[in-house]
Amino acid sequence: MNPYLIAPSILSADFARLGEEVDNVLAAGADIVHFDVMDNHYVPNLTIGPMVCEALRKHGVTAPIDVHLMVSPVDDLIRMFIDAGASYITFHPEASNHIDRSLQLIREGGCKAGLVFNPATPLSYMDYVMDKLDMVLLMSVNPGFGGQKFIHGTLDKLREARKRIDASNYNIRLEIDGGVKVDNIREIAEAGADTFVAGSAIFNTDDYTATINAMRTELEQ
Ligand code: DX5
Ligand code: ZN
Repeated sequence: MNPYLIAPSILSADFARLGEEVDNVLAAGADIVHFDVMDNHYVPNLTIGPMVCEALRKHGVTAPIDVHLMVSPVDDLIRMFIDAGASYITFHPEASNHIDRSLQLIREGGCKAGLVFNPATPLSYMDYVMDKLDMVLLMSVNPGFGGQKFIHGTLDKLREARKRIDASNYNIRLEIDGGVKVDNIREIAEAGADTFVAGSAIFNTDDYTATINAMRTELEQ
């Protein structure tokens, strides 16, 4: 199995042709579909909800759907996304009153669970819930918008997260989200990430296959 997963963020896709865009990016070699949910409360933007996730499943998408909740509170939407066919559900710990309970809710619903860390959110939020995590997602931009610049300090945070995950001996993916491009994906992988969200870097190019192949070439070096 390829240890590295490429996860295009559909935030930068053409929403008027979303099913086709997802089909195209999967045919181009993407591993999982990153699905950004924003509520104009936790973040200053508004995107898509469980009905769109369900519509993609009905459209025939069988690839894992990686739901990134940028919402507060989280539990009602967790339940809805479980029913809508999500594979991974991640949320920001500051957005949940009961982090342990929200993580359990996700796993009880048959999904993989994860926590998301904003650039200034301490990794200590994961300390007492490592056994309930399938994914740790580090934001390398402040959440809310695609197309922002990668915050360089995230590389040190990735190295720290990688140490904690390896020391835990749990099987936890380490995902990075924000400003990932062909020209920085390699140093991000070297810092410890194994799952790469990329929105504008993929959807703003004409040839998704060429872009994803270029990312894989960088990762294989
Ligand atoms: C930002 C989202 C990201 C975003 C990434 O809040 O979580 O998934 O779409 O976009 P790029 O890759 O363009 O930085
Ligand atoms: Zn995201």
